[in-house]
Amino acid sequence: MTDPTADCRLPTAEEAERIEAGRLLFAGPIEFERGVPSMEFLPDAGAPEIAFAGRSNVGKSSLINALTGRNKLARASTEPGRTRDLNFFRVGDDVLRLVDLPGYGYAKAPKDEIGRWTKLTRDYLRGRQTLKRVILLIDGRHGLKPDDKDVMDALDTAAVTYQLVLTKADKVKPTEIAALAKATAAAIAKRPAAHPEIIATSSETGLGIDLLRAEIAALA
Ligand code: GTP
Ligand code: MG
Repeated sequence: MTDPTADCRLPTAEEAERIEAGRLLFAGPIEFERGVPSMEFLPDAGAPEIAFAGRSNVGKSSLINALTGRNKLARASTEPGRTRDLNFFRVGDDVLRLVDLPGYGYAKAPKDEIGRWTKLTRDYLRGRQTLKRVILLIDGRHGLKPDDKDVMDALDTAAVTYQLVLTKADKVKPTEIAALAKATAAAIAKRPAAHPEIIATSSETGLGIDLLRAEIAALA
């Protein structure tokens, strides 16, 4: 039998400090700021923004809830296409904004609705100066899909930094998620705007959530 603790090591003092900064950031006040159905309703540019993008149902809203430790902040649902606006959340005393984006790749939505979501999301991702990073969620059971590659192409072209996060890690074996993370890192290695580190997460078990908090806190 393999030793399950073989990969364990203690965090360095610097890592521990970053994780504590992440914990503190998300332990303070966090509130829903506004839902944005079209570009003219965008809040004025202010605090740095971190946007959560990914295919419909990949777990964006659940991840925001896990990061903030608040179950009902972002509305999660088993029904795909649940998030239709850009939803802005204010973290702390306006030190950071989280933006829950509508999912893509949901074939059953009405065509004109898809057109509206796609245009809104694309316009926001391209033109927002305060957007510091896109967290691009990839289902830990399925890996990169053609839609995800289209979004990465657009972000590379717009020079918007993005970081891949694998979701639903609780649904696959640790060895499988580790292999997927490695293969995915290799697949994006040459992409100019991709952050090289991929974080595996589970909104159910909390896996990787402290690391992602630390990563985000470093951008605030
Ligand atoms: P849209 O808003 O439709 O784009 O979806 P979304 O990406 O916001 O997904 P959401 O957070 O609503 O989650 C979709 C479904 O996946 C829900 O049934 C969640 O409970 C489930 N889910 C999300 N994250 C996890 C996870 O880490 N583990 C497990 N097992 N289920 C998850
Ligand atoms: Mg959602």
